[in-house]
Amino acid sequence: MNTAMSAGQRAQLLLKASSLDQELRWLGEQPANQPANTTFSGVTYPAQLPCTPKVTYTDGPDTVRGSTGVTGFPAQIGLAASWNTNLAYDKGKAQGDEAFRKGKNVVLGPGVSSGRTPLAGRTPEYLGEDSLLGGTLAAAQTNGLQKGNPDRPTMAVLKHYIGNEQELDRQTSSSNVDERTLREVYDLPFEVAIDGSSPGGVMCSYNQINGTYACENPLLTGNLKKQLGFDGYVVSDFGAVHSTTPSLKAGLDQELNRPLYYTPDKLKAALSAGQITRKQIDEAAYRVVKAYIKNGLFDHPLPTTPEDNVSTAAHKQVAQQIATEGSVLLKNDGNVLPLSSKAKTIAVIGQTASNTPTNGVSAATVCGMSGFGAGSCTTPPVAPLDAITARAAKTGASVIYDNGSDPAAAAATAAKADVAIVFGYSKMGEGSDRTNLNLDGNGDALISAVGGANHNTIAVLETGTAALMPWQKDVKGILEAWYPGEQQGTAIARLLWGDDNPSGRLPMTFPKSLADLPTQSSAQYPGVFADGSTTRPAGDTSIRQVNYTEGLAVGYKWYEENDIAPLYAFGYGLSYTSFSYRDLSVQATKQGIEVSYEVTNTGRRAGTDTGQVYVTLPKAAGEPGKRLAAFQEVELRPGQHKKVKVTIARSASDHPLSIWNSHKDAWTTPSGTYTLEAGSSSADLPLKKTTTLR
Ligand code: BGC
Repeated sequence: MNTAMSAGQRAQLLLKASSLDQELRWLGEQPANQPANTTFSGVTYPAQLPCTPKVTYTDGPDTVRGSTGVTGFPAQIGLAASWNTNLAYDKGKAQGDEAFRKGKNVVLGPGVSSGRTPLAGRTPEYLGEDSLLGGTLAAAQTNGLQKGNPDRPTMAVLKHYIGNEQELDRQTSSSNVDERTLREVYDLPFEVAIDGSSPGGVMCSYNQINGTYACENPLLTGNLKKQLGFDGYVVSDFGAVHSTTPSLKAGLDQELNRPLYYTPDKLKAALSAGQITRKQIDEAAYRVVKAYIKNGLFDHPLPTTPEDNVSTAAHKQVAQQIATEGSVLLKNDGNVLPLSSKAKTIAVIGQTASNTPTNGVSAATVCGMSGFGAGSCTTPPVAPLDAITARAAKTGASVIYDNGSDPAAAAATAAKADVAIVFGYSKMGEGSDRTNLNLDGNGDALISAVGGANHNTIAVLETGTAALMPWQKDVKGILEAWYPGEQQGTAIARLLWGDDNPSGRLPMTFPKSLADLPTQSSAQYPGVFADGSTTRPAGDTSIRQVNYTEGLAVGYKWYEENDIAPLYAFGYGLSYTSFSYRDLSVQATKQGIEVSYEVTNTGRRAGTDTGQVYVTLPKAAGEPGKRLAAFQEVELRPGQHKKVKVTIARSASDHPLSIWNSHKDAWTTPSGTYTLEAGSSSADLPLKKTTTLR
C-alpha cells in the first residue's frame, strides 16, 4: 500500500506475499474482485491478502449499464460524429464519476472496430470506420475514465479484440484476414487508443481469427502486447474462453465472470503436466494487479453504499452536448433550417418524437441501442415533441402531432402545417445484425408521404448506423441524430432553431445501396459454411467462415478505390454557416510532413469546422484510396479565419505514412510521392499538394 512505489513494484510485492492459490484468484473476475468471498459457483479459493480491494465491473461503453439513476448518454457512434476529443474526455470523466458513485470501478468500454459492414449490430457501440478518429476518441474517453476523477478512479477496458465486425454467429464464426489487413485495418484503432491512453484492460472477442478463438489466439501476445505495446491485462468477453492451456499461453490473463477454464484445479493440472509454466501464471496475475494498482483501485476503495441518483446537471449537459455535436446535418436545401419565426404551424410526426408509445415505440426506444445489454435511459428522455413544442411557443408557433402509424393520416397533418418535422428510426444492437439499412416501422414510406404533402419537410433520423433514404429527394432537410440519449429533445430542438449550429460529421460512409458495400460476396458477409451456403444447416455447430477478401479496402477507402459514389461520404456534415479553405502548405521533414492551411468562416453565423487532412501514399504502396491523417476542430466567428497546423508524424500510432510489411514484420514508409489533401470531408477536399519522402 506504499504509494511512493511504482504500480509494478507494488504488484510484485503483493504477489510475492501470496500463495499460488491466492495468486490464481487474479485470473478470474469474481475471485479477483470479491476478495471477501472464497467460493464461486462451487470453486473454492483461500482467503485473499488483506490489502486487496473489492473491484466491480460494469458494462459500458455508452452509459453505466445496468444501473438506475445514471445519465442516458447518446450512443457511441454519435460521440464519434462529434469528432471532438475534449468531449470524449468529458464523457469518460462523467461516466467514470457515475460508475464509481454507483459502486463500480471498472468500465467495460470504450469499444472500437473498423466498421467493416454497417449492418453489424454493434455499430452504434463503436466509434466509426476510421482508425485515427475512433482510436483517438476511444483514447480520450479512456483518459476521462481513468484520470478524470482522481479520488473516484475507474479503469477502462477497451474492447473487443479483434475482428469482431458482426453479431451474426459471433461465437461461431471465423474472421479470416491476412496479416497486412489485420495490422493496418483492424489492429490500428486499438493501437491508437492504447498509445493515447494506456487502458488498464483489453477484452478479447467471441469470434475466431483465422480459425483460432480470439481469447486463445497468439495475436494477444504477438500483436496486442508486443506490437501494440499494451501493458495492461487481457480479459475475456463473457463466455469467450474455450480452453485453459492455449488461452494462458496465448496471453489471456483473466476470465470474465465465474471461473470455468481458469479454475485452480485446471490451472494447477496444466502446470504439473508441464503444459503451462509458473512464469505464465505470474505474468497474468502481475498484469491484473499492476493495472488495478496503477489505476488507483487499491488506494481509493469503492463506497460501501452506492448513491441512488448520480446523474448530475453537469453530466446531463455532457449528454446534451454529445447529442448536439454528434448530430449531422446532411441536407438543407433552400436553407429550410434553421426554422424561422415565419413557421406558425409546425407538424411533428413519428413515434420516436413522443414519450407516449405507439405500437411500443417512443423516444425511449432511440435513447440508446437495443438488443441485450442495451444502453438506455433509466428515466424518460426529454422527448423531441415536448422540446419542440416549448421552443415553438417562444416564436408564437403551434405544434400539431401525428404518431405516423398511418402515413396517409400523417401526410394530411403535414399538409396543414408550414413545416413538417418527421422522425425516422431503426433499431439495432448486440446479439444480431441488421438485414437492411431501411427505417423500421414503415419509416421510409412515412417520410416520403410527409415529404410529398409538405414542401418544407425535415427528416430527423434516429439510427445506429447508415440509412439508405429512398425518400431523400422528397425532403428539404435531413438531420442524422443517431441514438441521442436522454437529452435528445433539447438538443434536437436547439439545432432545428439554430440556437446551436450543427457541427457533426459522419464517422462512417452512408452508401446508396447495399450492393455498394465493401462486402460484395456472401463469403465476405455474412460468411459461409462448408457447403457454400450462408444459412447454418440445422443442428450444425461448425464455424461460419467470414473472408475479409476486400482487404484494406474498408469504409471510405473502398468507395474511393472503386469509384462508387456514396449517398453521404465519410467526414461529411453541413453547418448553418459555410467555410472555405486556402493556402495549403506541405513540408516534408525528417519526422514526417508538416501541413498547414487556412480556414475562413464565410457565412453569417459562428460555427465549428472540422477540417480534415487526407494522405495518399505512393502508388507502389498498394494502398486503396486515401487515409485520414489529421483532423482539427476550429471555432470561427463570421468572417474570421484561422491557420491550422498539423504534423503528420512518421512515428504516430496510426502510422499515417507507412504500410505493414509482412516480410520484414515492420512498418515501412515507402519512398515516393505523397499527396496531401485538405477540406471538409473525404469527398470534398479543395486543397491538394504533393511532397516526396525518401
Ligand atoms: C458483451 C461485452 C460486455 C459483456 C459483459 C458481452 O455480451 O459482448 O461487450 O462487456 O457482455 O456485460
